[in-house]
Amino acid sequence: MKKIYILLSLLILFSSCKNSSKNNSEKSKNLILTQKVDSLLSIMTLKEKIGQMNQYNGSWDVTGPPKDSTSINKVAHLEQGLVGAMLNVKGVKNVRAVQKIVVEKSRLGIPLIIGFDVIHGYKTISPIPLAEAASWDLKAIKKSAEVAAKEAAASGINWTFAPMVDISRDARWGRVMEGAGEDPFLGSKIAYARVKGFQGEDLSNVNTIAACTKHFAAYGFPEAGKEYNTVSVGMPTLYNIILPPFKATVKADVKTFMNAFNELNGIPATADTFLQRDILKNDWNFKGFVVSDWGSIMELEHHGYATDNKHAGELAIKAGSDMDMESYAYIDHLEELVKEGKVKEALIDDAVRRILTVKYELGLFDNPYKYCDLDREKQVVNSKEINAAVLDMAKKSIVLLKNEAINNQKLLPLKKEGQNIAVIGALANDKDSMLGNWRIGADNNTAVSVLEGLKKYKDNTITYKKGADVVIGKTFFYYDTKINKTDKSGFKEAIEIAKKADVVIMVLGEHGFQSGEGRSRTNLDIPGVQLDLLKEVYKVNKKIILVLTNGRPLTINWSEEHIPAIVETWQLGTQAGNAIAQVLYGDYNPSGKLPMTFPRHVGQIPIYYSHKKTGRPTPLPDPAMVFWSKYTDVDSSPLYPFGYGLSYTSFEYKNLKLNKTKISINEEINVSVEVTNTGNFDGEEVVQLYIQDVCGSLTRPVKELKGFEKIHLKIGASKTIYFTIDFELLQFYTANNKWEVELGDFNLWIGGNSNATLKTSFKVVK
Ligand code: NOJ
Repeated sequence: MKKIYILLSLLILFSSCKNSSKNNSEKSKNLILTQKVDSLLSIMTLKEKIGQMNQYNGSWDVTGPPKDSTSINKVAHLEQGLVGAMLNVKGVKNVRAVQKIVVEKSRLGIPLIIGFDVIHGYKTISPIPLAEAASWDLKAIKKSAEVAAKEAAASGINWTFAPMVDISRDARWGRVMEGAGEDPFLGSKIAYARVKGFQGEDLSNVNTIAACTKHFAAYGFPEAGKEYNTVSVGMPTLYNIILPPFKATVKADVKTFMNAFNELNGIPATADTFLQRDILKNDWNFKGFVVSDWGSIMELEHHGYATDNKHAGELAIKAGSDMDMESYAYIDHLEELVKEGKVKEALIDDAVRRILTVKYELGLFDNPYKYCDLDREKQVVNSKEINAAVLDMAKKSIVLLKNEAINNQKLLPLKKEGQNIAVIGALANDKDSMLGNWRIGADNNTAVSVLEGLKKYKDNTITYKKGADVVIGKTFFYYDTKINKTDKSGFKEAIEIAKKADVVIMVLGEHGFQSGEGRSRTNLDIPGVQLDLLKEVYKVNKKIILVLTNGRPLTINWSEEHIPAIVETWQLGTQAGNAIAQVLYGDYNPSGKLPMTFPRHVGQIPIYYSHKKTGRPTPLPDPAMVFWSKYTDVDSSPLYPFGYGLSYTSFEYKNLKLNKTKISINEEINVSVEVTNTGNFDGEEVVQLYIQDVCGSLTRPVKELKGFEKIHLKIGASKTIYFTIDFELLQFYTANNKWEVELGDFNLWIGGNSNATLKTSFKVVK
């Protein structure tokens, strides 16, 4: 029978060759692809079709019997053609072995698609996605995804479960580390860049892999920031804030989507027809396939939405979930559901068509082992090229939060010689934490530590003491209970070295496993005894550079008040220590800007720059009056606003100009502004444009990011930056439930963060 399929394929290929020589247009390519998929589908049994919709976890030795806890014999299923995709099989040897089973033993030999969480790098780890977002550098972000794809592809993988494009305004939620922060405009640009980086221009290229936009949808809005929690958001928030980055990836031709664990307004996303069919597949015309999140079909029962796993499978396929990741709902029940007439076979055919199409596009039918070249794996994995790209990305991700002078002298950049530097903090000497949370392809302890990076500058003297552990024990999954909350026995020796130092570098923050999936926190202070350590060291030496490493915004009020220099370094991956040292020494002038607001207090969350005005935005008529929108115990403003970040140089903004101040709905306005480097270092600046739609059919945010450009300016140089404001930028999802530009007044600001003050305004008229 396998032969029949090969014959059919050859026939189609032959006719397609003739066709394409006549007309190589996109249209005819698509037609040929459809024919190939349809003819394969026509010879598949219902069982084999359902097999394509089934994805298994493969973290076992594929040459031996699965050690999984389930009773299912996964190897037997592979042999019977009952598996369409695997995840967590990595390395050429293992991928080849698993692919060989389906290709050689199953009736039709349809190759597997091999998925893996290549979230921020594969073996060579790049900065966590939130850190990359802080670079606002779309080229670098695209490159980072490109090299991650190349490295993963060389190791047998052809599908990544990234990018995560969930907007979130709640730093308590541990997965903010995996997204691009709080803003839909920045988030959409980054989502697009990441998909283009992973998939390239040609998915059949051996260096590119299919991307997967996740988690559809609203996973980043869990109540109280608690992982997997209920989500209730209205249509304006869904359309204006949550959906835009997802849509941007459809425009980038992303091949797959993943649905989400959460419910949205009472319906679990995995069973949500409105999301998956109405919006994604119909309105946006998405042609790829939707994979469930891990076990999310089965979890419909836990949600209290399905009576059992069979019912869950029925709901999920009807709602548009094409592939089942580890719920066993499709493989166990879909055939029966079709036979009982509860699920139409047409739904199965549609899902399988989508899955087969992606496999064809990846070139897996031409050569199922195309990602399985041992030589390429050796050459590419951990190569110089990849390390150079992640180092570049890491430097660009660092945000300078504070750099104030002590006795007229700024601590940063560090002097390159003659300095006695005390380095303190367990995280300074940690080669693992910097790899962040999603690094299942990497070896443990492979990051360049901060200490190692600093020691490369040999003309200063470095003394190191950890002061205190951040986490206790060696457990792989660090929850808050594993945080060192009591042991201060190392304080004394740390204080001693600080006393004698010209400058103290303290590396403090969260361990890499303290953020990420399942790591929600109610307290965002620097964990454990680290803040006490900082306070004790401060008593003996005020010249402290605080190097923060963390996966989310933290509350660092005391540090902001007392410590002269603060550098946000997130978790920067394999090259972390080199990147941090190069920034501290001024070999790279920091240029990152916060993609998420830093609160003063966890109680302010959700806190974000593009909030609404409310009916009582200001203390009128009397500032002492109580009844206006604010907190009574904490200043309502953030500690650091969205878009904020300093440089070793300074920038001046002037001459903000519009070519018109009145436009009709379909016209454009050209905006220009002059930016000058007024400081003493060459440097980069992210020029940011915000607008406010003053009055709308629905209330509008106080401002929204609508443009940005990262520029490089030499000392003293000026540059005029241009933006165009058009329909695309001014529209929003209005009270009429459609995307429209409404007439009226608009304010516009340009500057180096969301508190920009250089302002002008314009009108949209009939
Ligand atoms: C669950 C996560 O939510 C998802 O993002 C990930 O891709 C899958 N597990 C597979 O590891």
